[in-house]
Amino acid sequence: MNMKNLKLIQNKAELRALLKEIKGDVGLVPTMGALHRGHQSLIERANSENDFVVVSVFVNPTQFGPNEDYDKYPRTLESDLKLAESAGADVVFAPSPKEMYTDIYFEEKETTLVCPPYKYVNRLCGKTRAGHFDGVCTVVSKLFNLTNPKRAYFGQKDAQQLFIIKKMVQELDFDIEIVKCPIVRETDGLAISSRNTYLSENDRKSAVNISKALFKVKELKDKGIVESSTLIDTAIAYLKDFEVDYVEIVSKNDFCSVATVKNGDIILIAAKTPECKVRLIDNLEL
Ligand code: PAJ
Repeated sequence: MNMKNLKLIQNKAELRALLKEIKGDVGLVPTMGALHRGHQSLIERANSENDFVVVSVFVNPTQFGPNEDYDKYPRTLESDLKLAESAGADVVFAPSPKEMYTDIYFEEKETTLVCPPYKYVNRLCGKTRAGHFDGVCTVVSKLFNLTNPKRAYFGQKDAQQLFIIKKMVQELDFDIEIVKCPIVRETDGLAISSRNTYLSENDRKSAVNISKALFKVKELKDKGIVESSTLIDTAIAYLKDFEVDYVEIVSKNDFCSVATVKNGDIILIAAKTPECKVRLIDNLEL
C-alpha cells in the first residue's frame, strides 16, 4: 500500500503556506467526504499523475437547497483521513463553513457566486436543484484559487457537474486540466455514492434497477435501436416503483437532448427510491 504522511489542514492560510513550498504538479480531488471507492479511484489516479495530491473534504452549504440534506449529509472525517492516506493523498483540506466563507454569507445567506449560464443549468439536476450548480462552481473556483492545481479530478458519476466544470474552466480561463474519471460501481452495478448510506434494505435492493435500466438501454442501442423515445421508455419501465425525476439522452458535446442516439451520447437517470425517497443519479455513455 502507498502510505504517505498525510497532513490534515483546516485553514486556508496554512494550506497556501504549505503549497508555496511544494515543487512539482499539484493534483486536486474535491469531495464532500464520506469517502468511498469512487473517491478512492480519483485520489489514486491523482497520485499516479502528480507530485502532490490535495483532497478537499467540505460539505458545501452553498450547493444545497433549503429542503435538501445538508444537515444530515454524512460527515466521517476520521475514516476519510484513513482512506485518503491509503489512496495516496498528501493533504486533506477540511475547512469549516466559517473558514471557507466570509461573514456576509452567514449574515445574508449571500456571497459572490460563480453562476454558469442558464442553458447549462435549466435541465437535468439543475431543474429541481435551483442554485445547485452556482454553489458547486463557486466552491470549486475557491478550491482552484486556494490550491492552484495542475490537474483536478472529477467523476463521470456526476456527468452534468463535470460538463459544467469543464465549461467553467474554459469560460473563466482557469489553467487547469480537468480529468474525467469513470464511475465505480458495486458488484451488482449500483453506482457507489455517499448517499447510498441512506438506503433502507428494500431500497438497496430496488436501487440496482437504475443501473440495470442503463445497461439494458446500451444493449438495445448496440443492437441498432437508436430512437431516444423508445430507449427512454425502456429505461422508465425498470423504474416502476421510483419517483422518476428525469430519464434523458444527451449529446456529450452540449448536454442537449437528442432524438436519435449516436456513439458517445449519454443516458442519464435521476430517481427517488420507493421507500426512503433517496434521490440517486447515474448515467452511461452509449
Ligand atoms: P462528492 O459527491 O463527494 O463527489 C466528489 C467527486 O467524486 C465527484 O467528482 C464525483 O463525481 C466523484 N464520485 C462520486 N461517486 C463516484 C463513483 N461512484 N465513481 C467515480 N467517481 C465518483 O461532487 C461533489 O462531491 C461536490 O459537488 C464537489 C465537486 C466536491 C463540490 O462541492
